Amino acid sequence: MKKILLDMDTGVDDALAIALTAAAEKAGDAQLIGITTCFGNVENTTAVRNSLSILSALGRTDVPVFPGSDRALAAKEKYIAGEECFLIHGHDGIGDAGFPLSEKAPETTDSVDFILQAAEKYGAELTLVPTGPLTNVARAIQRDKKTFEKIGRIVLMGGALAVKGNVSPYAEANISNDPEAAKIVLESGIPMTMIGLDVTHKTRIYSEETARWKTYGVTGTLFAEMTDYYIAFNNHEGCSLHDPLAAAEAIWPGTVGTLPFTVKVETESVARGRTYAVSYPDEGDSDHVQVGLTVSKTAVPLFKALLEEMLLSLG
Ligand code: RIB
Ligand code: CA
Repeated sequence: MKKILLDMDTGVDDALAIALTAAAEKAGDAQLIGITTCFGNVENTTAVRNSLSILSALGRTDVPVFPGSDRALAAKEKYIAGEECFLIHGHDGIGDAGFPLSEKAPETTDSVDFILQAAEKYGAELTLVPTGPLTNVARAIQRDKKTFEKIGRIVLMGGALAVKGNVSPYAEANISNDPEAAKIVLESGIPMTMIGLDVTHKTRIYSEETARWKTYGVTGTLFAEMTDYYIAFNNHEGCSLHDPLAAAEAIWPGTVGTLPFTVKVETESVARGRTYAVSYPDEGDSDHVQVGLTVSKTAVPLFKALLEEMLLSLG
């Protein structure tokens, strides 16, 4: 059974990635072994709180949540979420839909320690799915690269290779929030799959779909209202399923079609946070980053149906 570890800045689409992974587990396709949190869409403490709330709404209080990085590698001050984050994800980070607080407490183990413990314990069976800034992942590599490399597969949401960024013309949000961490991770030589805006913009969900969830009961309504907040930010023209697509590729490899590249991260200039592929890699570079470029037409309706089936069963 594939073990999935989600590493996230729990906002709206991260929450949908948790729900999708839980649905896949119900179908017998994967096991969610934990969530490690990070600042990004929200502050780290809010990411912890939201992860626990979403798990509780899904009836999955058995899944442990490990608090992680509260700031970027180079930042002196703790990250504080700003107005732009509230506009996209709501003041609570999960669409102000009214998800009840969980009674469960987070774990006392730090995210970075848990990532390394899981790498040691599960090795090739483990897939790590970072869907926020790559701070925890970079810190795990810095602390113990040898143990980190035991992880079977890394499927991260972040970056934009051949399309514009979403926080600047150059940079995608997860990379922009900690370019130094992204550089450590994407230029580490460790094989990984990058699910960036090139491919996540091709997978969308619309309010006609969330309207159906509202007819399923309390949980369906909470998830629908949360997603509608995100859709409203996108002028009601649906929203990209960034983080769920990374989770889907982790659970069902082949959901996304990829090509291998040497990916670098810009940390200076106006293009800070840009991910780019080099045509003439330096000696020692390898095409170790599989970049997502296409989406399977059949996989997406299937994973949406699975998610919907679970919301229906939860009522
Ligand atoms: O650019 C999209 C990414 O930034 C998603 O992971 C979203 O949740 C935000 O973190
Ligand atoms: Ca995210």
